[in-house]
Amino acid sequence: MSRPPPPLPREARLVILTGAGISAESGVRTFRDGDGLWERHRLEDVATPEAFRRDPDLVHRFYNERRRGLATVEPNAAHRALVQLEAAWPGEFLLVTQNVDDLHDRAGSRQLLHMHGELLKGRCLGCRTVVDWPGDMDCDSRCPVCATGAMRPHIVWFHELPLGLDPIYEALERCDLFVAIGTSGHVHPAAGFVEAVGPRCRTLELNLEPSRVASAFQEARSGRATELVPALVAELLG
Ligand code: OAD
Repeated sequence: MSRPPPPLPREARLVILTGAGISAESGVRTFRDGDGLWERHRLEDVATPEAFRRDPDLVHRFYNERRRGLATVEPNAAHRALVQLEAAWPGEFLLVTQNVDDLHDRAGSRQLLHMHGELLKGRCLGCRTVVDWPGDMDCDSRCPVCATGAMRPHIVWFHELPLGLDPIYEALERCDLFVAIGTSGHVHPAAGFVEAVGPRCRTLELNLEPSRVASAFQEARSGRATELVPALVAELLG
């Protein structure tokens, strides 16, 4: 059996990446599990710029349904444990999420980047301003800032560039611990973050089952996020 890694110094820099698996136990559907969103919808129909040009009503309906769904879910023990870690950790901390739900925000995470956008925001197709958008959106929705531009969901679709990549890669280059939680490793660039860390960085995957890129991590733990994440946080805060 391999020896456990040495404890991290308290000034260690942490980058945590989360995916749909961390919100699954809150009742938010994942993408690629048995009853996942991409089993019920073709992503080419609802999650690409071409889909939005072809059938904006369908795309709006898809995101309206998901936006409404947020009202029925709550952050879980894994979201809350990451807030506890951020609050107590003396070193640098960055939470990068691929999730477009607001569960990390509602739990209280602050050093947080939504690299795939946010369901509760909209973006003007005219002036490009991003605004809070808690309700339904449709083809008649207009930008509250310029008053004329049509709106789209503030979601990064396939073939579009994720948000915040510069600060994310800077943090990855200098981090001492990289943890990926509840992500299947199917979607780049997030799936490649584990390869972008420096040579001395410890890497750890927490997932229900090994992800597609599990072998790139030094350590992988299998189980539910609501159990594994609080246990890891307790371990790190020692
Ligand atoms: P996926 O649906 O691809 O993967 C979810 C992962 O979470 C799987 O590996 C599951 O095994 C794991 N999982 C499920 N329940 C869990 C639990 N209770 N505890 C721990 N792990 C659990 O979701 P993502 O990897 O987040 O992008 O998907 C990445 C991107 O693909 C999404 O952000 C979205 C999607 O297309 C865009 O929409 C741009």
